[in-house]
Amino acid sequence: MKNKLQNLKQEVLSQLAGIADIFDIEKVEKKYLGKKGELAAVFKELKSLPEKEKKAVAQQAQQLRDEVMDKIVELKNKFGSIDEKDGFIDVTLPGVKIEGGHLHPLTQVQRDLERIFLSMGFKILEGPELESDYYNFEALNIPKTHPARDMQDTFFIDQKNKAGEYDLVMRTHTSNVQVRAMEKYGAPLRAVALGKIYRNENIDASHEHTFYQIEGLMIDERISLANLAGVLKEMFSGFYQKEVNIRMRPGYFPFVEPGLEVEMSCVFCNGRGCSVCKKTGWVEMLGAGLVHPNVLRAGGIDPDKFQGFAFGTGIERLAMLKYGIDDIRLFNSGDMSFLNQF
Ligand code: DAH
Repeated sequence: MKNKLQNLKQEVLSQLAGIADIFDIEKVEKKYLGKKGELAAVFKELKSLPEKEKKAVAQQAQQLRDEVMDKIVELKNKFGSIDEKDGFIDVTLPGVKIEGGHLHPLTQVQRDLERIFLSMGFKILEGPELESDYYNFEALNIPKTHPARDMQDTFFIDQKNKAGEYDLVMRTHTSNVQVRAMEKYGAPLRAVALGKIYRNENIDASHEHTFYQIEGLMIDERISLANLAGVLKEMFSGFYQKEVNIRMRPGYFPFVEPGLEVEMSCVFCNGRGCSVCKKTGWVEMLGAGLVHPNVLRAGGIDPDKFQGFAFGTGIERLAMLKYGIDDIRLFNSGDMSFLNQF
C-alpha cells in the first residue's frame, strides 16, 4: 500500500508539472481529487488494512491529498479561471449596470431658484463665507453692542486685525451680500445671493451648523411691500409649481423697517390644515422687510431717493418642504439611498 501511494505521488507530481492550461488542471483535479478519483479509492482501501498499518498509511494519503490541493490552487491562480480564459466571454451573464452621477438635491434646488429669479431680471451674486464683522453685522445696522447679535450664534475667527480687534467671522447669513452689492452696482438693483452660511448651533433634525440661504434685494425709486409680495409669490409658486398664497406679519430684523415674517399657504394640504403646517394651513417661510435707511446709506445709496426690499431664508427648508424631507442632516449624510431619490 505504501508503495502504491509512492507511485501515485510520482504520477500526480509529474502530471501537475506538465500542466499547460486551465483545462489540464480541471482534468488532473478530477482524476486524483474527484469523488471517484484515485485518492478516494485509496481512502476506501484503508478500511481493509490491518490496524497497525492503517494509521501511517492514512497520514501519508492525507499528506498527499493536501499537497495536491495546494499545488492545484497555486496553478489555478497562475492560469486564471475558465471564465476569464482568453477571449472566453459568457454572453449569458447579466450585464453590469453603470450608475450615472447627478447633482446634489441642494444644488438642484439652488439652480431652480436661480432660474426663477433670472426670469424676473435679478442678478445672481456670491459673497465671501469668511466675512468681516462690518459686512456681516455693522453695515446691516447691527452695531457691536446691538442685542440682535445674540440672534445668531456666530463663529468668530481667532485672529486680530491691525487695530487689535477680532473682526472676521464665518458669515451667519447671506445678508452680508447686501451692502457689498450696493457698493458694487448702486441703484437701481435686483439681485439674489445664494450660498453657505455658518452658525454655532446644536445639531438636530431641523438645525445644522452649516447650511444654505438665499438672500434677495431689490432697490428702486418706488419700491413698496406690494413689490415684495409679488416677487415672493412668484418665487414660491415657481418653486413649488403650484399657485400659493402668502401673508405677512410684523417681525424684527435690524436691517429692515418695517420687518416682516412671511408665511406661505401650506403646499402639502393647500391650506386645509395638516401635520406639516400644524393644522394652521400656513407655514413660516422667511424674514423680509423694507431695507433700513441706515443700510442704504452704508451702501452709498440715498434713502430719500431710493427704497428697497430684502428677504432671506434657508434653502434646506425650502427643499424639505418641497420633497417632504423631515431631517436636515440627511443632506450632508452622504447616504446614497437618500441622494439617489433626486
Ligand atoms: N438674515 C436673516 C437670517 O439669517 C434673514 C433675513 C431676514 C434676511 C430679513 C433679510 C431680511 O434680508 O430682510 O435669519
